[in-house]
Amino acid sequence: MHSAEAMANLEARMAWEQDRSSPPPGVAALPPIPPGRYTSDEFFALEREHLWSKVWLYAAHTQQLPKPGSYLLLDIPEAPILLIRGVDNEIRAFYNVCSHRGAPVVTSDAGSANYLRCTYHQWTYDTRGDLLSVQDERDFPEPFDKACLGLKPVRCERWGNWIFINEDPDATPLLEWLGVLVDEFDHFDIESLRPAASKDYIVECNWKFTMDAFLEVYHIKGIHPKTVGPQLDHRGAVMGLLPNGHTRMTCPTNKPSSSTPDPDSPTAMQLIPSPDFAHKYHVSHNVFPNVITPTGAAVRTFLMFWPLSKTRTRVQSVHFGVDWGEGERPADWDGFLDLWDVIMDEDLQFLAWQQKAVMSPGFQGYQLSYMERRIYYAHESIDRIMGVDNVPEDLRVTPMLQAHSEQPEDQAADPLWSQDGAGSSS
Ligand code: FES
Ligand SMILES: [Fe+2]
Repeated sequence: MHSAEAMANLEARMAWEQDRSSPPPGVAALPPIPPGRYTSDEFFALEREHLWSKVWLYAAHTQQLPKPGSYLLLDIPEAPILLIRGVDNEIRAFYNVCSHRGAPVVTSDAGSANYLRCTYHQWTYDTRGDLLSVQDERDFPEPFDKACLGLKPVRCERWGNWIFINEDPDATPLLEWLGVLVDEFDHFDIESLRPAASKDYIVECNWKFTMDAFLEVYHIKGIHPKTVGPQLDHRGAVMGLLPNGHTRMTCPTNKPSSSTPDPDSPTAMQLIPSPDFAHKYHVSHNVFPNVITPTGAAVRTFLMFWPLSKTRTRVQSVHFGVDWGEGERPADWDGFLDLWDVIMDEDLQFLAWQQKAVMSPGFQGYQLSYMERRIYYAHESIDRIMGVDNVPEDLRVTPMLQAHSEQPEDQAADPLWSQDGAGSSS
């Protein structure tokens, strides 16, 4: 757990961030991010080909697949993928594409089935994806090998009860990809959580505008003056740049106990078991590329960005809370969700404007501050994952921050508290 020394280190770093009068010595200005990354069809297509099909994407929580045969049709853009819990209790992912002529084997969002039958010509698969039966099999000339005609599997692995999928058969295993995040989330009792609510917001902008918006707290005085603004001390935020594009922000709070639920009230949301620091500071990670995880005393949220088109994005928030057992969700959740809606409206209000602006001749390029460096790091990481050579030169970002990412040796003492290295001129 967290040593007194580690806590003292973090607090000293926060105090240093609060008091500094300039960025740390040796920190170079971040070059403008090319606007074409938000506007070009070519870049959007490259992301589809080299980013989205190669990274781990959050798919569902195990409670959404409660028993053998439970299935879910995922709502991931351009990825017709289903999850199913097999009769052996194993959760698997498959393309929702019948091996006969490509009709879907599942058409409802969720359900339960002992086998999957494509209703077009009734080819039938078991819950392991194997092809069981073919109508009028006699009409398919030899060689016709049902053993080779199962549903095509998609990588599917778990982080606790969170299920992720990856279309790349050669991808690094999920927990290895997450790296230090696994330990950092272990500080919170993630196994005790269940999905409590989910909501989608459609925004008319490129998905990266939505990502950028949640990677900094520079905006909180401007657009959240009455909601989160008074709670967070953005000038003390400590940023961590982690391997594989992931990042972390730990932000001091001004009112540590004001939003803490009363554990004795029957309507109250239960506190997530976590060490004191989680109540004292606001901790939020970016699970690269498209999950942001703001954490409150009683709620852990996955805020996700799904590109529907070059200029249209589905922002999805899924909130997890401590399992309340049988019966109704504690009533205080409703108040939380109302407040969440207000905050989201605040956060999303300018994004469609930014999309129009960046497509106009009036746009002179992004000017990013030291405090906004997680945005630049995310863009740098997008290029690195896609393969820099795949990105046209005029659309690349210049690598600036990779050298400042935390390495395992920095994290040896206590990962959450280690420094991001951007304070040094190395
Ligand atoms: S497309 Fe599925 S059985 Fe024909
Ligand atoms: Fe915000």
